[in-house]
Amino acid sequence: MDYDGGMTPLASHDDELYAFATLADLPEIVRMLQDPAVGRWLWFCPATREELHAFFEPLLQAQARALAEGALPSAALFVVRDREGTFLGQGAAVSVAPSPGGVELGFQLPRHTWGRGVGTRLGRFLRAYAVFTAGAERLEGHVLAGNEASRRILLGLGLHHEGTRRGYRLKEMVRHDEDVFGVLVSELPVETIESQARALGLRRGRV
Ligand SMILES: CC(C)(COP(=O)(O)OP(=O)(O)OC[C@H]1O[C@@H](n2cnc3c(N)ncnc32)[C@H](O)[C@@H]1OP(=O)(O)O)[C@@H](O)C(=O)NCCC(=O)NCCS
Repeated sequence: MDYDGGMTPLASHDDELYAFATLADLPEIVRMLQDPAVGRWLWFCPATREELHAFFEPLLQAQARALAEGALPSAALFVVRDREGTFLGQGAAVSVAPSPGGVELGFQLPRHTWGRGVGTRLGRFLRAYAVFTAGAERLEGHVLAGNEASRRILLGLGLHHEGTRRGYRLKEMVRHDEDVFGVLVSELPVETIESQARALGLRRGRV
């Protein structure tokens, strides 16, 4: 599938379509992140609309520039929508600056989509993109302690619990533990991931 500025999905699984996020997606992303039930599990929330725009706009602009040049963005931000265009969530596969080949996975869904497997499938898409398209050598994810759904998704993707950073995140004046998950891609079932990537419509090393 060719990228045409966000209108064409990069990949799909049945009725769920995955596309690079654009500035046009930002209002739905911000609305989702301002829901306290979603923000409860995110270290950077609660945040104002202005703060969220200041965080996401440069990332989305850098992503658009990279894609326009035929390059992969170092911080890849995605949206998942159904075939009617309803926003189902956002995901990220972000290069870890001090760890060449390291990619951090992240995902957030609006509350109305929880518990239906959207997060699990988004996680599989992100893993496939990171491994097959972006050539990741290590995957990681960070989860505020107690976020059982997120923990299960990362374990299901083959990441291991590597440790807990005690009181690492300060959120609303409370220090929270953060669980660190990670895995070397060489320890994962790479052939299965590559066939999932092909089934999703992803390309090796490029979009
Ligand atoms: C975390 C999140 C992405 C999960 O997405 P989801 O679509 O609801 O998850 P799924 O339906 O695919 O379920 C994933 C697993 O978690 C379990 N699960 C789902 N909701 C759960 C809950 N409230 N409590 C415990 N387990 C739960 C499912 O049973 C499933 O387990 P399994 O793999 O053992 O079968 C979503 O809840 C969310 O966006 N939460 C707010 C933001 C957030 O926490 N982001 C992640 C930050 S690290």
